[in-house]
Amino acid sequence: MARQTLTPDLIVRIEKSGVRFNAWDTDGVKRTSEITTTTRKKAFEGDYLLGRFVGRTGKTFWRRVDNVDVTPSTPESTVEVPTDHDHAEVLNFIHSSYSLKPRGLMMNELKWKYLIRSAVRGKNIMMTGPAGCGKTMAAKSVVNSLDRPDYYFNLGATQDPRGTLIGNTHFESSKGTYFSESLFVKAIQTPGAVILLDELSRAHPDAWNILMTVLDYGQRYLRLDEQDNQATIKVAEGVTFVATANIGNEYTSTRVMDKALMDRFTIVEMDVLSEGDENELLNYMFPNVDATVIGNVAKIATLTRTESNSETARITSGISTRTTVELCGLLYDGFNLEEASEVSIYPQYDSSGGVDSERTFVKQIVQKFCDDGSNEDLFNEEEIAEAETVD
Ligand SMILES: Nc1ncnc2c1ncn2[C@@H]1O[C@H](COP(=O)(O)OP(=O)(O)O)[C@@H](O)[C@H]1O
Ligand SMILES: [Mg+2]
Repeated sequence: MARQTLTPDLIVRIEKSGVRFNAWDTDGVKRTSEITTTTRKKAFEGDYLLGRFVGRTGKTFWRRVDNVDVTPSTPESTVEVPTDHDHAEVLNFIHSSYSLKPRGLMMNELKWKYLIRSAVRGKNIMMTGPAGCGKTMAAKSVVNSLDRPDYYFNLGATQDPRGTLIGNTHFESSKGTYFSESLFVKAIQTPGAVILLDELSRAHPDAWNILMTVLDYGQRYLRLDEQDNQATIKVAEGVTFVATANIGNEYTSTRVMDKALMDRFTIVEMDVLSEGDENELLNYMFPNVDATVIGNVAKIATLTRTESNSETARITSGISTRTTVELCGLLYDGFNLEEASEVSIYPQYDSSGGVDSERTFVKQIVQKFCDDGSNEDLFNEEEIAEAETVD
């Protein structure tokens, strides 16, 4: 069969605008949403034009065209006004984004899409939830999905918020006193950057104060020197902030964040995994660990989570997914459930109060699953026995 020589019905040139590769046809109409990002990027980098062809089935496709005598023009103004074309592209990106979620991250589809949508729409995002539920992991995953310059700051680990967020003044005898700006200053001046502010809830209150104007949609500037009203740095176009905060019935060192600061964020609450999801995640991560034991780990974690949320809670927090993952790593390395629990779970629970302590309570739950035979029956029997002694 002879191959037909096709003629393109449209020709576009690719222009880079910020982090996007826009396609403009000969009439100055934007065709970005019709062409995949990869094709546009390649055309821009290879400095060639793209043509639209209609295939035999009637479907259109885009490919490189050479030796054409028309020049697609870029309109005078390339300001990003949300047009229908753009909107279609954004919609498509958000709603097909679940495939970008790493398999090893357990997060439901709606939450993930909401996260992507907030980032695409330039919102300040705050991921909340108890410790070890995947906030940092989800934040990093969304940053990776976006194909934009990214920066990471762990605000919970710094004792010097001013140095981290603004910079330091140094003295050298040859230069005298000089100021070296922080990486954060560079980050906020990078158009389209995604900036992760990890453990914002643990940050020093000075960090929160510095960030107030940066995060405010109406202000968006960083004040370099609180004494001097002039020295400010503008946050560049398209910069998105993604913060994480431990919030929940935790007795950690988390400080209570200012309401005014919280108000500057769109909150994305990370869910604590259900027993089924926990089980699925652990089985996926540890295919070589006995599935029954993994099932028991998921049950233990869920029992502690339910207990910590009950009105008569005897423990202040449940076992986190971070801990169940660590524990399964120990199982994989040949430790048994009892040993793995002793080193990874128990140290997290207070042992004061002896038999009435949180640690004793958690130990009892774990031990029910360490015995041979029908664990669940045993658990129920003991619960019944316990209930009877109360009478
Ligand atoms: N929802 C989740 N999906 C997959 N893994 C998780 C999840 N939550 C926690 N983990 C595991 O726990 C570890 C710690 O999670 P992390 O994101 O650091 O928690 P957080 O920031 O909420 O304290 C991760 O590296 C991962 O192994
Ligand atoms: Mg974290």
